[in-house]
Amino acid sequence: MKNFILFSVLFFAFSVTNVEGAIYRMIVEIGKEASYDFGEGMFLIRRFTPASLNPQYLFASSSQDGTWTTDGIDKIPSSAHLNWNGTLTFKTISENDIGSYEMPLEPSRIPMAQSVIMFELAGS
Ligand SMILES: *[C@@H]1O[C@H](CO)[C@@H](O)[C@H](O)[C@H]1NC(C)=O
Repeated sequence: MKNFILFSVLFFAFSVTNVEGAIYRMIVEIGKEASYDFGEGMFLIRRFTPASLNPQYLFASSSQDGTWTTDGIDKIPSSAHLNWNGTLTFKTISENDIGSYEMPLEPSRIPMAQSVIMFELAGS
């Protein structure tokens, strides 16, 4: 019983940390430019958006055409460009860019969850 209470407390503490510590909001507008600085060393970004049921990846290669990929083969178009310094820029935001963005290369700070950046429409 004591363990159960301890577990509940830990679990609660973790949930709170998860909400308050690691989720950021980025308000964007369809058709407008948007830029987010993920930080030094973040040259791989993963996102979940309506563009695919699977996680999509973008790598800061020198030959980027803006496409994201779920498996290294498929190409999901966007106006994105990821610089080596971790700055992600969209020339024009589309519906398919609305969603959550994560950094698979971010060092994990257990028990903190990795950061999630929510690209949201104003007023939603
Ligand atoms: C990252 O590099 C791009 C392109 O060189 C530049 O426009 C941007 O300002 C840089 N961002 C930071 C945070 O240094």
